[in-house]
Amino acid sequence: MLNIDCLHSAYIRGANILKNLSFHIKPGELVAVMGRNGMGKTTLVKTIIGLMPYLSGDIRFLEEKILGRKSYEISNLGVAYVPQGREIFKDFTVEQNLLLGVLGKKKKVSDFDLAYQHFPILAERRKQLAGTMSGGQQQQLAIARAIIGKPKLLLLDEPSEGIQPNIVHEIAATLKQISATESLTILLIEQNLELVTRLVDRVDFIENGQIVHSVDVKIIHEDPELVARFMSV
Ligand SMILES: Nc1ncnc2c1ncn2[C@@H]1O[C@H](COP(=O)(O)OP(=O)(O)OP(=O)(O)O)[C@@H](O)[C@H]1O
Ligand SMILES: [Mg+2]
Repeated sequence: MLNIDCLHSAYIRGANILKNLSFHIKPGELVAVMGRNGMGKTTLVKTIIGLMPYLSGDIRFLEEKILGRKSYEISNLGVAYVPQGREIFKDFTVEQNLLLGVLGKKKKVSDFDLAYQHFPILAERRKQLAGTMSGGQQQQLAIARAIIGKPKLLLLDEPSEGIQPNIVHEIAATLKQISATESLTILLIEQNLELVTRLVDRVDFIENGQIVHSVDVKIIHEDPELVARFMSV
């Protein structure tokens, strides 16, 4: 579904953050990319969604070449992005934030009922200002805003950051359910093992802008030292 080969990506010309990176996801797969701070996790998702200025290599989404395409084009092909830090509009209501998720979409495929069905708390609070909700609820809103346009691939950048463990578990269960019912493929950037082990099938580790190791999530349970090898500072 997503095939990345020989990818180089930079904020400043010549200073590559991603270096000859290869990464592949099959339809329906749930994959986490883990790695220490500054290793290039956010840069990877920004590159996929078309936010990086200096690029070379190959990125294909559903066989279509997307490297170098504009963000809105990539989004219209079915890739949704929940950025690190959520970036919801705090002075807008829940409903207005959801509307922004489909603004500018070519096809009006928006499904508000789908979002409210998976996140009933948002239905209850549709008229509430987003900034007055808890961090966990704001994260649920950010995810709901992303799925409302019915994407095929969802990119999530550290959704558990600053969220209580019980809400992290709830979000994991909801994402798993959405993935199953909507055939949604997920690329999760995470440092939180609770969410990773509850949600994904495979974990890839990133170091200095390259995917250096890939394991079935079962290995993560069996071999905690492996995680320490790629995550400890
Ligand atoms: N806007 C930017 N301009 C220049 N360099 C940047 C920019 N954003 C990030 N970088 C650099 O790119 C490298 C990778 O950063 P990135 O944000 O992808 O890391 P990360 O793995 O997501 O880290 P974290 O776990 O802290 O979110 C770092 O060295 C960082 O300093
Ligand atoms: Mg990051």
